[in-house]
Amino acid sequence: MQALTLPRFGGPDAFTLSDLEVPSPGSGEVLVRVHATSINPLDYQVRRGDYADLVPLPAITGHDVSGVVEAVGSGVSAFKPGDAVWYTPEIFGGPGSYAEYHVASEAIVGHKPAGLTHLEAASLSLVGGTVWEALISRAGLRVGESILIQGAAGGVGHIAVQVAKATGAFVIATASDYNADFVRSIGADVVIDYRAEDYVTAVNRETAGAGVDVVLDTIGGDTLEKSPHVLAQLGRIVSIVDITTPQNLVEAWGRNASYHFVFTRQNRGKLDELSTLVQRGLLKPHHGATYPLAGIPDAHALLETPRNGLRGKIGIAVAQED
Ligand SMILES: NC(=O)c1ccc[n+]([C@@H]2O[C@H](COP(=O)([O-])OP(=O)(O)OC[C@H]3O[C@@H](n4cnc5c(N)ncnc54)[C@H](OP(=O)(O)O)[C@@H]3O)[C@@H](O)[C@H]2O)c1
Repeated sequence: MQALTLPRFGGPDAFTLSDLEVPSPGSGEVLVRVHATSINPLDYQVRRGDYADLVPLPAITGHDVSGVVEAVGSGVSAFKPGDAVWYTPEIFGGPGSYAEYHVASEAIVGHKPAGLTHLEAASLSLVGGTVWEALISRAGLRVGESILIQGAAGGVGHIAVQVAKATGAFVIATASDYNADFVRSIGADVVIDYRAEDYVTAVNRETAGAGVDVVLDTIGGDTLEKSPHVLAQLGRIVSIVDITTPQNLVEAWGRNASYHFVFTRQNRGKLDELSTLVQRGLLKPHHGATYPLAGIPDAHALLETPRNGLRGKIGIAVAQED
């Protein structure tokens, strides 16, 4: 099979297209013919060596799979050859999805939502699982609450806007000016151009000083640190980025804030919940660009470029769509 391997950490040119043996499924595992994958910031963080201790080289990275089951190992009960499936491979737990075949434990694999193409499903698995864990499992977002979603045009943000809207929340979103119409079109009630106006001022104006019940932070640094300044009493802040600088939490104390730190975990349950939203027409992933397997280095370079104009995800077509 063809796979894009990483023999050393470095820039996008560190990848090599290799011919490898097709892996075999063990007990409780499925072998999947990968039709599509997608690019996440985690992929370029892994590529440049940010998590070198967790990634033995040579590596196959990639964190989204949509494809078709080719074979199953002993004891597999939920899947058979020919089933269309989607999932996020175990993060830091073995080979990733930049390859024509992938093996995974059936416990983390879901039946692909029928209404999505493989490219769309591969653009949803990791970011959708993250949003589910952040907004539903951890923040417990409820009907009628309000939420601020940072980076709303991005891979995570554009799914968060739709999931928040589906729960009946009032959605305030931040995005660059060129993404405002897109973010409004997927359900944001208010869009703040974070480059033109301080988001704290804007949220406090839009909520008449009441603040929001939940903040989803996808940015970190100063953006995360200012979050309590837009929070209602007893509000919740969810951060999905690693925090490398000390944060001043005085305002969080004054508002009785709760913090949740999310590093997405893999399981079939949340894939099935996301499928339900897709089937009900409440959730649709968007890919702003598509590349073939061999084009992944260019896709990395694009995602790493600030103000790249992208909306949603970059999809990777590994096999022809069926
Ligand atoms: N913990 C986890 O499990 C987990 C899972 C997934 C992702 N993540 C992390 O979450 C972050 C976002 O991931 P992603 O896939 O959404 O990335 P992405 O697709 O690159 O999107 C990032 C978005 O951030 C916006 N942005 C940049 N600076 C901003 C600022 N100061 N304020 C508001 N928005 C800003 C950009 O929007 P404009 O172009 O509109 O400016 C862009 O759309 C990454 O650091 C990633 O590693 C963590």
